Amino acid sequence: MNTFTHNVVVVTGASEGIGRALCEALAPQRPKLVLSARNAERLESLADTCRQAGAEVLVVPGDLTRPGDCHHLVDAAMERFGRLDTLVANAGRTMWARVDEIEDPAIVRDVMELNFFSLVTLTMAALPHLKAAHGRIVPVASIAGLTGVPSRSVYCASKHAVIGFFDSLRIELADTGVTITTICPDFVVTQIHRRALDGHGRPLGETPMQESKIMTAEECAALMIPAMAKRQRLLITSWRGKLGRFLKIVAPGAIDRIAAKAIAERK
Ligand SMILES: NC(=O)c1ccc[n+]([C@@H]2O[C@H](COP(=O)([O-])OP(=O)(O)OC[C@H]3O[C@@H](n4cnc5c(N)ncnc54)[C@H](OP(=O)(O)O)[C@@H]3O)[C@@H](O)[C@H]2O)c1
Repeated sequence: MNTFTHNVVVVTGASEGIGRALCEALAPQRPKLVLSARNAERLESLADTCRQAGAEVLVVPGDLTRPGDCHHLVDAAMERFGRLDTLVANAGRTMWARVDEIEDPAIVRDVMELNFFSLVTLTMAALPHLKAAHGRIVPVASIAGLTGVPSRSVYCASKHAVIGFFDSLRIELADTGVTITTICPDFVVTQIHRRALDGHGRPLGETPMQESKIMTAEECAALMIPAMAKRQRLLITSWRGKLGRFLKIVAPGAIDRIAAKAIAERK
């Protein structure tokens, strides 16, 4: 038996990137996976792969910026499996634009809708079931949730909001058996960078990253699973992310320079 054998694990943003890699890496432990994203076709192809590896799978397509779809996801998981052990709140999007390039504040609200409000809605819907199961909540934030990053102010704000919300909820849940493992990846090779919104709210279309120099989604998933299993409080996937937490206190100008260099060098 592994930690996630028969564990009912809801993964949002499962169709691509980190969420997909996580599902593929979890599947050999034979969990009961509930896969969520908008693209049903991609979810079905992932479901086939995960079933072949030993998982039971339920596909629940939906747009998590709609509160009704968040509630439907939780209800569908409960109806099919009768319990909910782990919620991996991973779906997210990003934005690459300096503040003075942002055309319309509505773009900011769009990013917050998925990156923050959908996690809150989903968590509130899932919480009674997670309490019953002494379960795990795994919000996927970012190292951009721990420090400022130029041209990522909106994304940073959304991830700071995630970390603040779940740090507070963790204290509220102290006696319930429900734990929160916040994931803070550094850059990962996924489609998120191509889909990033520019200042006009349009996808960049091509990645600004030096992809050969950053972590793969599979590497990120391989770090996440033991952290989730151990109910670790926080996972930071890079040395500069870990260093940054301390530098921010003792030498905040230095961490600003590291963040500026990371964006300038795209890695
Ligand atoms: N990649 C990085 O460098 C990096 C670094 C730090 C943190 N992160 C965080 O890691 C998480 C996963 O990112 P990723 O890099 O794997 O991104 P990705 O490859 O773009 O995947 C994003 C996932 O979210 C889903 N999604 C997007 N909009 C949605 C919506 N409105 N409703 C429901 N699902 C939606 C997408 O599927 P559909 O399009 O099918 O809906 C997709 O499955 C995000 O929270 C991101 O902020 C990523």
